[in-house]
Amino acid sequence: MPKALITGITGQDGSYLAELLLKQGYDVVGMVRRTSTVNFHRIAHIQNKVQIVLGDLLDQFSLVHILEEYQPDEVYNLAAQSFVPASWNQPVFTGEVTALGVTRMLDAIRIVNPNIRLYQASSSEMFGKVVEVPQRETTPFYPRSPYGAAKVYGHWITINYRESYGLHATSGILFNHESPRRGLEFVTRKISYHAALIKLGRADELRLGNLDARRDWGFAGDYVKAMWLMLQQDEPDDYVVATGETHSVVEFLEAAFGCVNLDWHDYVVQDPKFMRPAEVDLLVGDPSKAGKKLGWEPTVSFPALVEMMVQADIDLLEKGEKAL
Ligand code: NAP
Ligand code: GDD
Repeated sequence: MPKALITGITGQDGSYLAELLLKQGYDVVGMVRRTSTVNFHRIAHIQNKVQIVLGDLLDQFSLVHILEEYQPDEVYNLAAQSFVPASWNQPVFTGEVTALGVTRMLDAIRIVNPNIRLYQASSSEMFGKVVEVPQRETTPFYPRSPYGAAKVYGHWITINYRESYGLHATSGILFNHESPRRGLEFVTRKISYHAALIKLGRADELRLGNLDARRDWGFAGDYVKAMWLMLQQDEPDDYVVATGETHSVVEFLEAAFGCVNLDWHDYVVQDPKFMRPAEVDLLVGDPSKAGKKLGWEPTVSFPALVEMMVQADIDLLEKGEKAL
């Protein structure tokens, strides 16, 4: 039975990836950091099928000890401080986790067992103020936030360990991917959740920042499949994973409020608090390499994704469950 270690298993992607790997017959180990209250809501349904181990990307020895004890064949490094606005509030912390955390993991692999395959969660946020449309593996980076800059470091150190030590270390440059398990602070989930709240009469406004930003939004369940496919290749490489379509925040609003037969103009208030010091205006990826080499393609369209998220939030609220 192959064994995989997932860092960030309590996050959106970690939960979908754990489900996928369990289905493929993997022994799954999930690394979690110590918190004062348990935050396993995304993996509650599979908690008895995975092994949970305490560790932190800030703590080099915890990574070494976990690799020594569990001897995984594959490591999926999904852990990060992943919320872009928080990276301006905590730029050094973001660099420690999202950038140097990658080096800590790479070095742990190099020391314990250089045959372990690594997936690094790189990001389309690295393209930032884009110099080419659509963005592909060869597009130069121009990060626009401390988060984006940290991801560029993580991306290049992964390539460097591949070239310096021959590690099977692969970077997936994933464009935005969403789901009902997306954190409530990200714009898609903020919109789907508020559309549901407003429809059920439990809120009367939604405060947002820049409505003109455009993103290439896909479904997280599709994107974790690409991560797994990358580690099944004989050679490590870098891959863009995207839908190839771009939509604005306004288009997301139209689709989400349309699902509940409301007009978003009646509820949305623009609030400077949610504007960013430097914005990424347009992201759209070219996933043709992932299509050709991995046989990967997205299965959920933009309207289907929006509807899935709004319906899930309506169901959640109608059941009286707390949104997390
Ligand atoms: P997420 O929901 O924010 O999950 C992040 C995970 O990292 C959580 O499990 C979190 O644990 C964990 N974590 C944070 N700091 C840690 C530390 N110091 N040590 C150990 N674990 C730590 O993010 P996601 O959307 O699933 O994204 C997964 C990865 O893909 C991230 O690296 C993100 O930057 C990257 N990415 C995401 C997207 C996207 O659109 N979703 C696109 C491109 C790249 P807690 O639960 O304890 O906070
Ligand atoms: N979060 C948020 N909240 N974003 C808003 C809001 C708001 O109230 N109003 C407008 N936006 C705009 C942001 O300015 C941004 O241009 C866009 O909506 C998307 O913001 P987020 O959903 O926060 O995602 P992100 O694109 O900044 O980052 C996500 O995708 C990256 C990949 O490109 C995160 O998942 C990153 O971790 C990931 O790397």
